[in-house]
Amino acid sequence: MDLYEYQAKDLFAAHGVPVLPGAVASTPEEAQAAAEKIGGQVVVKSQVKAGGRGKAGGVKLAESAAEAKEKAEAILGLDIKGHITRRVLVTAASDISEEYYFSFLLDRANRTFLAMASAEGGVEIEQLAVERPDALARVAIDPIEGVDKAKALDILTRGKFPEEVKDEAADVVVKLWETFVAEDATLVEINPLVRDPQDKIVALDGKVTLDGNADFRHPAHEELVDKAAEDPLEAKAKAKDLNYVKLDGQVGIIGNGAGLVMSTLDVVAYAGENHGGVKPANFLDIGGGASAEVMAAGLDVILGDSDVTSVFVNVFGGITACDAVASGIVEALKILGDDATKPLVVRLDGNNVEEGRRILNEANHPLVTQVDTMDNAADKAAELAAGA
Ligand SMILES: Nc1ncnc2c1ncn2[C@@H]1O[C@H](COP(=O)(O)OP(=O)(O)O)[C@@H](O)[C@H]1O
Ligand SMILES: [Mg+2]
Repeated sequence: MDLYEYQAKDLFAAHGVPVLPGAVASTPEEAQAAAEKIGGQVVVKSQVKAGGRGKAGGVKLAESAAEAKEKAEAILGLDIKGHITRRVLVTAASDISEEYYFSFLLDRANRTFLAMASAEGGVEIEQLAVERPDALARVAIDPIEGVDKAKALDILTRGKFPEEVKDEAADVVVKLWETFVAEDATLVEINPLVRDPQDKIVALDGKVTLDGNADFRHPAHEELVDKAAEDPLEAKAKAKDLNYVKLDGQVGIIGNGAGLVMSTLDVVAYAGENHGGVKPANFLDIGGGASAEVMAAGLDVILGDSDVTSVFVNVFGGITACDAVASGIVEALKILGDDATKPLVVRLDGNNVEEGRRILNEANHPLVTQVDTMDNAADKAAELAAGA
């Protein structure tokens, strides 16, 4: 999960990374009130999960609270790379002497963590990496050793940070590493990290990505989820512990096990070529225990997608045998009743398949078609989707 700047800075502050005071506002009046409280010059900043807000006109200086209101009026509603600004952060303005770049991230390719540092911050990192690769230090971090002050100083030296600020910046870097580890982040980035005329170091921007796999260790992270911006179907699936990803096709897919679901996407896309380019509408893995409730929850999510015109249920019975899955489907259709309106193609195979097929035949539900092989079932589902 990516965080908003204000959320990233709240986490920074909680771990001792220096940030300037600020408050979030969703109306110009709230922005004015926040600016009055902070006093003096403030900066009004669009809160969207996209970089380059400054260039897009989403970061503006205001000399007074009245001006902060005007700037907020201009920024609220602003579209930045397809993200509409719903809130602004009103924060104290900093006197900037120099802008630096610093981040810790998960380096998947090298199976380790990575620090990136540059005394030439402020510009976007992608641009810096291309235009001034020598100015950007990349230092691998041993996850066991972590980052102490000596390591922080080493990284900053390689990033060519000026001598006068290195000591203080190193303290900030150690705290940033503590944030990265304690919050189970996969990215913490400060751009710009600035030096003011008194040589104080402060984080003026913040970008944090939290590792969703560690959510169970961080009940407090739940509050950081932006419920209003979440896709309602994805939220519904998440609430029921289903692995669901919305795609842009027409054939709803339900399978058990990520590998089977992935290959189902492939066969449906392939079959769809013969039916006017029909494609999978989603990825949905109901996991190992395909109980009636889980099947009902999965079907409920998929039938709620107005793009879906047919559904392909592809299950390989293993520990959960096919008869249990078949009963699950029959029960799920009972639970959903009139809410189930789209044709279902079901392919069962594996443990106890005969009994599973018998149960579905006996139920003889008007929406359900059984097909024995994966390829033929994909073709049938694509044909039904195209004909709808
Ligand atoms: N509180 C602040 N005081 C003064 N200048 C700021 C402040 N916040 C941001 N800026 C200036 O605006 C630029 C862009 O802001 P930033 O938060 O980095 O947004 P983005 O990276 O999305 O463009 C910064 O590089 C900095 O020069
Ligand atoms: Mg920035």
